[in-house]
Amino acid sequence: MPNVGVVGVQWGDEGKGKIIDILSDYADIIVRFQGGANAGHTIVAGGKRVILHLIPSGILREGKCCIIGNGVVLDPEVFVHELSELKALGYIKDDKKLMVSGLAHLIMPYHKKLDMLKESRNTKKIGTTGRGIGPAYEDKASRMGIRVIDLFDKKVLTERVKRNLEFKNFVIKKYYKNEGFQARQIVKTYSEYGKILKKYVTDTTAFLHKSIDQNKTILFEGAQGTYLDIDHGTYPYVTSSNTVSGNMASGSGAPPTSVGYILGICKAYTTRVGEGPFPTELFGEDGELMRKIGDEYGATTGRPRRCGWFDAVIVRRAVKTNGIKGLSLMKMDVLDSFEKIKICVKYKIGAKTYAEPPMSVGDYERVEPVYEEIDGWNTSLRGITKYDELPTNAKKYLKRLEELVEARIDIVSTGPERESTILLKTRLYNLRFAFLNS
Ligand code: IMP
Repeated sequence: MPNVGVVGVQWGDEGKGKIIDILSDYADIIVRFQGGANAGHTIVAGGKRVILHLIPSGILREGKCCIIGNGVVLDPEVFVHELSELKALGYIKDDKKLMVSGLAHLIMPYHKKLDMLKESRNTKKIGTTGRGIGPAYEDKASRMGIRVIDLFDKKVLTERVKRNLEFKNFVIKKYYKNEGFQARQIVKTYSEYGKILKKYVTDTTAFLHKSIDQNKTILFEGAQGTYLDIDHGTYPYVTSSNTVSGNMASGSGAPPTSVGYILGICKAYTTRVGEGPFPTELFGEDGELMRKIGDEYGATTGRPRRCGWFDAVIVRRAVKTNGIKGLSLMKMDVLDSFEKIKICVKYKIGAKTYAEPPMSVGDYERVEPVYEEIDGWNTSLRGITKYDELPTNAKKYLKRLEELVEARIDIVSTGPERESTILLKTRLYNLRFAFLNS
């Protein structure tokens, strides 16, 4: 199968936006299958910096069709905002290039409020993005959710909003001692959003099936990362959706067999925003330097990201869980000035060593990384586009990472621009992606 899926193999913010933007050029359709406006893809295109939270970053390419799949939780306020921004920049000349699944669940104002209130009350904070993601997925699972398609039936919308508010207002007012919501106001605002959304809403599952029959090329755009996955991540310090490749099918309606090549995106080091375990986190000068050089501040919340060395234990596990065929190693140039570079090769708790990440969060917090140290390359990699031009120590670093994580590195990023990319040989099946072989 020719289609390609992209997932993060760390804690998100790996730089998926840049790679998706590059690969989009070779795809007909780009689909988001999970998450919501908690994602933040920063793309530098034509000298302009664009941050997209909800609309697939493939939208920046001409003639591509972008889909917000059923697995996404859609905040119409963000959608409308991004839409008008993209239109103003001239990126959406043809409305047909953007499609929204009617089955996607909506983020409602009370989801955002509950997200904030829950976090402010929680003594063990998750450090959520405050975008209402968790509460929206909670409602989806408890069958209280309101879907995009419901926006077009005022009776259904009113009835669902009222039913939800009976419960939500009770919790917001009585438990959190905060101000509740009025059904009339929400229905009015959301009906207005519905008017704007209407021309984009369609049966995206049927569209994908038809596109597969027509041999169109699909790119599945993951958000967040494997260790923020609700099942496979560092629970409870995770997001509320499945971020792993297995969700590409259920979150879009395309069959699992339609994804032929899964590309894992990881940084040459590790970062994390929000709370939760992070075995290789650095608290001193090295971490500060990574944050400064790598400009490690959240695209969605602006929070400083926690920084640390590359953790081969988590990446190896993510390679297996996602069925990664190739990796894209991002921000390698950020390590340019480090004399010595460390790689975590296994974990230690007491005298025992482990090759797999622990299941319990308590163990995760007690884990000590076992490092291997290699010499840095001490020269700028910025903008290098050919593997042969990399200094020997940089090549050694790549080779060692490949051995440790048991996957090939197919792409190396040496700067934020599209052009600052080394495209290596690849096993991408589709000839249209064969540019990677050149
Ligand atoms: P939520 O997704 O807003 O519920 O946040 C849950 C956790 O996932 C928090 O630790 C967030 O910082 C993290 N998170 C959510 N989205 C992203 C992302 O796109 N990049 C990195 N971390 C994220």
